[in-house]
Amino acid sequence: MSQLKIFGLVIFTLFTMVACSGQDGSVELTDNQKNLVAERIAPHGQVVMAGQAVVSAVASAVRTGESIYASNCQACHNYGVAGAPKMGDVAAWADRLTRGIETVYANAINGIGAMPAKGTCMDCSDDEIIATIDYMLENSQ
Ligand code: HEC
Repeated sequence: MSQLKIFGLVIFTLFTMVACSGQDGSVELTDNQKNLVAERIAPHGQVVMAGQAVVSAVASAVRTGESIYASNCQACHNYGVAGAPKMGDVAAWADRLTRGIETVYANAINGIGAMPAKGTCMDCSDDEIIATIDYMLENSQ
């Protein structure tokens, strides 16, 4: 976010310079001076723009079952907290699956017992939760 501030500052500075340069000729720059200023500002503008591209690339990074598991589920499912079926516990997951995979999906999406709805990933879509469960099941066979 600090990059946004820097970017805002650059814009503000540019704007102020443009506004001042036109006023009653008092701060009129020669063409040469204007070019020098533009040259000095340009690289900074480019650096900021590159930084912003990185920020937005990170923000829009595709979430996978693996990354959702790492950020929202492993705190309970790595250790079996409150009776959560553990990642890699073949028997525990086979037991859950006897009810049918659709029920297992639905229980995770809606919550069941100490399992919070969507495993606390409230901005996950149903499909993302399902992909995360598939990831857990693939690693628990
Ligand atoms: C706060 C701890 C906690 C978190 C965080 C959590 N779970 Fe669970 N989860 C549980 C517990 C406890 C159960 C067992 C609930 C029961 O059967 O009573 C469970 C059960 C499940 C089940 C089996 C449902 C069934 O039908 O038996 C699935 C699938 C599941 N969790 C997926 C997830 C996913 C995916 C995430 C992350 C997006 C997640 N959980 C995050 C505690 C958690």
